[in-house]
Amino acid sequence: MKGPARGPEGVAAFRGALLAHFDRNRRALPWRVGRTPYRVMVSEFMLQQTRVETVVPYYERWMRRFPDWDALAGAEPDDVILEWKGLGYYARARNLHRTALAVRERYGGRLPADPEELRTLPGVGEYTAGAVASIAFGRAVPAVDGNVKRVLARLLDLERPAAGRLRREAARLVDPNRPGDFNEAMMELGAMVCAPRSPRCAECPVAGWCRARMAGTVGERPMDSGRRRAS
Ligand code: ADE
Repeated sequence: MKGPARGPEGVAAFRGALLAHFDRNRRALPWRVGRTPYRVMVSEFMLQQTRVETVVPYYERWMRRFPDWDALAGAEPDDVILEWKGLGYYARARNLHRTALAVRERYGGRLPADPEELRTLPGVGEYTAGAVASIAFGRAVPAVDGNVKRVLARLLDLERPAAGRLRREAARLVDPNRPGDFNEAMMELGAMVCAPRSPRCAECPVAGWCRARMAGTVGERPMDSGRRRAS
C-alpha cells in the first residue's frame, strides 16, 4: 500500500512537493520579512489562539511600539496589555512580557536557539518552542499546531491521533534543510488547502501521499469528539 511518505525516497519527495507548493503560494505575512528571533516569537505568541488575518494589523502596530526585546522588556505591564487589547487571551501578553524580561535577565538579551531551553520561558509550550527553534534558528524540530494536527491525521488516516504519535510523525517528516519553511508550509497547507470543512484536495500538493484521500475518509479525519457517533 502506498503510504504517507514512507522510506527515504518517499519522505524526500513529500518534502519536495510540499515546499515547492509553499514557495509558489506562501502568503506575504509581516513576520516573514526582516526575520529576527524576536519577530518570530511575537508572531507565534499572537498566532497561538488567533487567526492569521486578525493578527496582521496587531502585529504591525506592536512592532512599531515594541520593535525588539529591549523595548518590550522596558515597557510597563499595563502598556503591554493595552497594546494587546483586542487579541484576547491576555495571559499571552503577560507571558510575552515576562519572556522579554527573562531574555534580558537570563540570556543577556539574546533568545536561546535550543527548543528545550525555549520551553523554560513563560508561555512557551512545545508548539511555540518548535516553531521558533525551526523558523528563527533553523533547528530541525517539529511544530504541531491545530492545522498541522489535521493535516497529519488525514495523511495517516487516523481517527483520534494521540499527540505523541503526531509529534513523532512530524519529527520524521520535517525537512532537515528547511525546517522552518517545512513547518510553515504544513501550517499553511492546513489553513489554505486542507481546511476542516471543504478541503481542496484537487489543489493539494501532497494528495498522492494522503491515506484518508485514498480511503475516502478526508471529511471524517480527524474525528472530533463533537462528531463522534454514539453506538
Ligand atoms: N500559524 C502559526 N504560526 C504560523 C506561521 N508562522 N505562519 C502561518 N501560520 C501560522
